Amino acid sequence: MARKTRSVFRCAECGSDHPKWAGRCESCGVWNTLVEEVVGPRSQTGRFGTPSVAAVGPEAVRLDTVLPDAMPRLHTDLNEFDFVLGGGIVPGSLVIIGGEPGIGKSTLLLQCAARLEAQGVATLYVSGEESVEQVRLRADRLGEDAGGVRVLPEVRLESVIARAKAVDARVIIVDSIQTTYTDELEGAPGNVGQVRECAARLMRFAKESGVAVMLVGHVTRGGVIAGPKTLEHMADTVLYFEGESAGDFRILRAVKNRFGSVDEVGVFEMSASGLHPVANPSAAFLSGRDEHAPGSAITASLEGTRPVLVEIQALASRSGYGTPQRVATGLDQRRLAVLLAVLERRAQLRFHDQDVFVNVTGGMRLVEPAADLAVVAALSSSLLDRPLPADAVFFGEVGLGGEVRPVSSTERRLSEAQRLGFRRAFVSARSTTQSNVRTVSIAHVADLAQQFAT
Ligand code: TYD
Ligand code: MG
Repeated sequence: MARKTRSVFRCAECGSDHPKWAGRCESCGVWNTLVEEVVGPRSQTGRFGTPSVAAVGPEAVRLDTVLPDAMPRLHTDLNEFDFVLGGGIVPGSLVIIGGEPGIGKSTLLLQCAARLEAQGVATLYVSGEESVEQVRLRADRLGEDAGGVRVLPEVRLESVIARAKAVDARVIIVDSIQTTYTDELEGAPGNVGQVRECAARLMRFAKESGVAVMLVGHVTRGGVIAGPKTLEHMADTVLYFEGESAGDFRILRAVKNRFGSVDEVGVFEMSASGLHPVANPSAAFLSGRDEHAPGSAITASLEGTRPVLVEIQALASRSGYGTPQRVATGLDQRRLAVLLAVLERRAQLRFHDQDVFVNVTGGMRLVEPAADLAVVAALSSSLLDRPLPADAVFFGEVGLGGEVRPVSSTERRLSEAQRLGFRRAFVSARSTTQSNVRTVSIAHVADLAQQFAT
């Protein structure tokens, strides 16, 4: 592309633009907010230099003349992946798959490419991080035939798009957005300006051509600046791949989806032959459970539209000197602090001299307040060193007064519990349900301890 565009440096705080980069925005005075952006001839010449109607713009259309769903979704037959996307890949959509390095993003997308190729859907796997040989080595481990997948070792956006057109790809996978750059900006690959501009162009390319684009974006624990977070607003669908790298389960969560429901999760198991969808997540999460251990409680969590049973483990242990530790894995640290304070004040359970550890097993991350009652039950059980009934699930939101509140979709949670053989559910006294699972009403956290098995 010979045409050289002009770029400006825009302040991410106040939006003012500057001809040159500076450490501090002159308008609002905030440091480190200037990001390079392309401006200029693009809007006149049209996208990618094609003659366009930019000067006049498209015509407005009546909604009843628009044909719905002109292009059917592509199915990868990796069921959990299709499910999280809302029923398969939508042609012309931009999907971001974020996650920490090593979690399995490249593996997932290579499997996805292999499945699509097997059905005759042309794909292009752009590998900016690994050589073709490395991708081949990964492909050999997978329990599927990835032989037909075309791999492009390229980081320059202009040639990625040219190649995608040349091979007539219907799905392109860009691994990763942090290694991709465009000639039109001066910054190094991975900086905010490059990442945003590349993603924006891939989005336009997707919309114009009907090609689906899947972008890998790394997230690091420290939270890199140019991570997928800065791109969420422009993508159609944003998925995060989570889990403990050490454990086998990987959870794919939709945090944004223009073509499906959000907060939907898909569960995979990482094996020696790649990722395998887990058909029955509840059973998988409960498989390693010791039913008679104090501090273990099962909750029925609603992940998107699907109820999933997970185990919450708590351990309270007398602390040494200094401030006791509070460590939560898979649960918000501040939520744990609130629940401990509620138990201390409203149920007279003493945690102030205890180190407290809470863990959600299987690498799940619970965001719903419905898990409160199970957390409180697990904490009390550990402190009192008495196990909870093995056939019980717990769900309900706990208020600051210690009251237990009902949560949504009680029926769906109960039926999942019943399916897995649970016979009792501890729920808010204000829940009204009809189910074969016997419900035990809990009005207040102080009532909980009386219900424990002896
Ligand atoms: P990878 O897809 O490279 O992660 P990302 O692209 O998110 O950085 O995969 C990471 C890990 O998965 C790596 O440590 C090796 C492991 N793995 C398996 O356990 N089994 C397999 O079949 C494959 C391909 C990878
Ligand atoms: Mg990778």
